[in-house]
Amino acid sequence: MSLGGVGRIAICGYRRILASHLPHVQRITLQFSRQMSTEMQSVASRLQSSGLLRTQGLIGGKWTNAYDGKTLEVNNPATGEIIAEVACMGRKETNDAISSAFDAYKSWSKLTAAERSKRLRKWYDLLMAHQEELGQLITLEQGKPLKEAMGEVGYGASFIEFFAEEAKRVYGDIIPPTLPDRRLFVLKQPVGVVGAITPWNFPLAMITRKVGPALACGCTVVIKPSELTPLTALAAAELALQAGIPPGAVNVVMGNAPDIGDALLASPQVRKITFTGSTAVGKKLMAGAAGTVKRVSLELGGNAPCIVFDDADLDVAIKGTLAAKFRNSGQTCVCANRVLVQEGIYDKFADAFSKAVQNLKVGDGFREGVVQGPLINEAAVNKVETFLQDAVSKGAKVLLGGKRHSLGMTFYEPTIISDVNSEMLLSREEVFGPVAPLLRFKTEEEAIHMANDTNAGLAAYIFTNNVQRTWRVSEALEYGLVGVNEGIISTEVAPFGGIKQSGLGREGSKYGMDEYLEIKYVCLGDMNRN
Ligand code: SIN
Repeated sequence: MSLGGVGRIAICGYRRILASHLPHVQRITLQFSRQMSTEMQSVASRLQSSGLLRTQGLIGGKWTNAYDGKTLEVNNPATGEIIAEVACMGRKETNDAISSAFDAYKSWSKLTAAERSKRLRKWYDLLMAHQEELGQLITLEQGKPLKEAMGEVGYGASFIEFFAEEAKRVYGDIIPPTLPDRRLFVLKQPVGVVGAITPWNFPLAMITRKVGPALACGCTVVIKPSELTPLTALAAAELALQAGIPPGAVNVVMGNAPDIGDALLASPQVRKITFTGSTAVGKKLMAGAAGTVKRVSLELGGNAPCIVFDDADLDVAIKGTLAAKFRNSGQTCVCANRVLVQEGIYDKFADAFSKAVQNLKVGDGFREGVVQGPLINEAAVNKVETFLQDAVSKGAKVLLGGKRHSLGMTFYEPTIISDVNSEMLLSREEVFGPVAPLLRFKTEEEAIHMANDTNAGLAAYIFTNNVQRTWRVSEALEYGLVGVNEGIISTEVAPFGGIKQSGLGREGSKYGMDEYLEIKYVCLGDMNRN
């Protein structure tokens, strides 16, 4: 099965092959001086001196070029500059990474939980010790503002800390037997080798949320980061090695996404696929995993409703909606996609929300005060434009923004659009950009119906001061996560995941461990013999 849609289809080239005989660091320096502005060079050279700027894949503990020497350019979405050229890998490298993970599994899974926990804790310490450099790397390749990027490092690292602790709490069960000469046990054992396919919108946190519990349970992993943001993944893997996570336990391959995806699916040694990304690709992975009956965890697209009731505290609703909508410039699966506002508060809300949104500073994530970075690429902007045109052609009104930002590149103006209805693309699909569509409703029942009228079921938000309504609506919403009077609800201690076509399984929290554990029942017979 071809996975043409796994992230961007990588365009591998041979541009760096001439330099491939030079030592690794020298090659990176050459790239910087050729391609980058002075400002970017200074960020890049700081990163380089920290030893965290890696451009090769990681297979069996060795930094490795693509076997055919192909490379892939990584761009800064804020400037279009080429940051680095990384190994563009495919099927062969993935198969070797799987073999390394399979070998490492034999010893990693046999370590005591306490020993695995210690190394994960060390990894957490290193991630936090390098919070600034990792944040810079995220801003450089993904575009989010530096403060938000540093926040992602803290958030991402928290999964490693949390699962370092959970490693020690993988308890089994003893079941009262049905026959007197029997004893019944339940053991929990690691699934085995895990293929982790991660997106560009959280280059670190979506890796740690998968790899943390996998390693804690005794699994080993082959990570395929997005080709748009591989540098953070490689830096995190370097720190995992420094933390004493043994060679082969964490492997990273990136490049030709369909080939890598197909190799992970085809291998009987890979026992689980965990994926965060689009629903379309998730469905292909789920179908592909059937060939070898692998387990799958899928964190797929959302279509989050954010419901503001007449009885909401306006300031709380504005603050929460702002955070839920404009975090990462609207590029998260849990971003508010539809803002449903009750008719009594609609005009007041639209007015106050517009005032708040027009203060959001757009720009390069390294600039002071910027809270809205660029969108990831041109395709993302085109999608936003198509959705906007569709809505306007069907009668919606732009209250604020509504066009590309004067900064050019992939910057888009934070936008509010009113009079949106359920026929428009903006309400049917995830816009994944800084556009807040306002929809009007009359009653609680109508709001619940509108909110649930989608195939997605990841996150929903409600703003109300009525306690009974809080319970009623939270129970009625067909979503995996519900925020009440709060726009940012993700945390390592709570289960993250969707229902309906938003996915399968949960990440984070004690429930996140179950995704990487098999349950084994052991029946001991003949117990009455002395
Ligand atoms: C996502 O968008 O996939 C993750 C967002 C989060 O962890 O809050």
